[in-house]
Amino acid sequence: MNRVEKAKIQDVPQIHRLINYFADRDEMLARSLSEIYENIRDYFVVKQGEQVVACAALHISWSDLAEIKSVAVAEDSQKQGSGTQLIEACLKEARELGIASVFCLTYQPGFFERFGLSQIDKMELPRKIWTECYRCPKFPDCDEVALICNLEV
Ligand SMILES: CC(C)(COP(=O)(O)OP(=O)(O)OC[C@H]1O[C@@H](n2cnc3c(N)ncnc32)[C@H](O)[C@@H]1OP(=O)(O)O)[C@@H](O)C(=O)NCCC(=O)NCCS
Repeated sequence: MNRVEKAKIQDVPQIHRLINYFADRDEMLARSLSEIYENIRDYFVVKQGEQVVACAALHISWSDLAEIKSVAVAEDSQKQGSGTQLIEACLKEARELGIASVFCLTYQPGFFERFGLSQIDKMELPRKIWTECYRCPKFPDCDEVALICNLEV
């Protein structure tokens, strides 16, 4: 199994392609190249050689809250454990940073429930996280499901 690593700046075009492949199918939110470059330290990748086959990001929202976002595994690399490895890497990093809670917004709640995240009403999330939503073409009719888990830190 390929291991998870922190993304490098050279990975950005491939991360961009991977995320937007699924965004074009309305399965996740699109990300611009500049957004990925600016937040590259948030990203983990799984690579096969030089090819990025999966990615995910942990973005810090506040002193006690971080978001797992942009989880994408290339279709021909799915069901091989990469998604699991990426979520585990995000949760590990959040614990190491001393962050108390991690949330996500997704169309795949069942996948995230496997890692101890539970569904909550989106309105329970702090206002601060909505800054990104204002730029979403779907706002304010968001149909993603919110999930959250508390970490033992
Ligand atoms: C969802 C996704 C990230 C899973 O990645 P993956 O690498 O295939 O996941 P894994 O191989 O680690 O699978 C782990 C398990 O989760 C299960 N699983 C996958 N999607 C699931 C879902 N929506 N609900 C419940 N279980 C799910 C798999 O069946 C597998 O189960 P198993 O171990 O019993 O066989 C991947 O399918 C993907 O990138 N989808 C398109 C983009 C997307 O929807 N991203 C999600 C969030 S924004």
